[in-house]
Amino acid sequence: MNNAVRAIVQHAKQNGIKTFLVLEGYKGLHAGNIINSEKIDLDSAISRGGTVIYSSRFPEFKDPQIRKEAKAQLDKLGIDSLVVIGGDGSYQGAQLLHEIGVKTIALPGTIDNDITSSDFTIGYDTALNTIVDGVGKIRDTMNSHNRAAIIEVMGHGSGDLALFSAIATGAELVVTNEFKKTPSEISEVIVDQIKNKGKRSAIVIISEMIFPDLKILQKEVSEKSGISTRAMSLGHLQRGGVPTAFERINASLMGIKAIDELVEGNSGLAIGVLKGKVTSTPILEALALPRENRYALAEKINKINQA
Ligand code: F6P
Repeated sequence: MNNAVRAIVQHAKQNGIKTFLVLEGYKGLHAGNIINSEKIDLDSAISRGGTVIYSSRFPEFKDPQIRKEAKAQLDKLGIDSLVVIGGDGSYQGAQLLHEIGVKTIALPGTIDNDITSSDFTIGYDTALNTIVDGVGKIRDTMNSHNRAAIIEVMGHGSGDLALFSAIATGAELVVTNEFKKTPSEISEVIVDQIKNKGKRSAIVIISEMIFPDLKILQKEVSEKSGISTRAMSLGHLQRGGVPTAFERINASLMGIKAIDELVEGNSGLAIGVLKGKVTSTPILEALALPRENRYALAEKINKINQA
């Protein structure tokens, strides 16, 4: 996200546009937590994880009065345009600000990869690489101990982190919202891989929010399979870390496009990368686009990894 912020500020500067940074998202916007962009060293921020402009959850932004007050904070400083970086909640907020007269452009910023108007969201590739690294390390210890591991990854309803990390790690099973499996079915795969096929370990990657209690799942699968199994969540470590080069490039290109759109006088647009091209889609359309169903891919990958 820092790369997007830097590109936005630098490209705006080049176009003679004065920039500010809103700290902590919509919460900071409402509170007037807005600083001059020169106050943050964005050049050195591009190799850092997290976000130098901070983030927050602010469901209060759904309230029209709160949004009016947020707009007043912008008006006070003579700010007429806003670039928002976030997931679908942020997109909804951006659309509503656009409707009350703030020129707004949205960039996809979430590790979940669930903004359909872009092939990649900012944060996704870095999180994916973190997961792949983590799963590799867990595989090492499972191989040593002749065990199975059930690894829960983030995604908030989207199975992309689970599915694509399973491809990259050769996980024996991936379970997503589109491709659900019961504890008994998971046990059967583990038994087949370790007892029948003689593997030293079996890795099962699951999307979050499918199994409410990992300890219960671990016990059930261990008992049913008769194989020592550990279940763990990779948790918030997935949301930090040095951004990948791929991510830095896409975030920078999308940031530049955001300013290009504002310079053209456009608003209410979502920037994305689709089939290698940086694109703009009306936010409302972006929010309504259906997500690709990846059931068939999950089924195919599971078969290949279990062969
Ligand atoms: O939307 C990003 C995300 O990391 C999801 O993958 C996850 O479900 C959620 O945020 C976690 O949110 P919080 O940090 O507020 O618990």
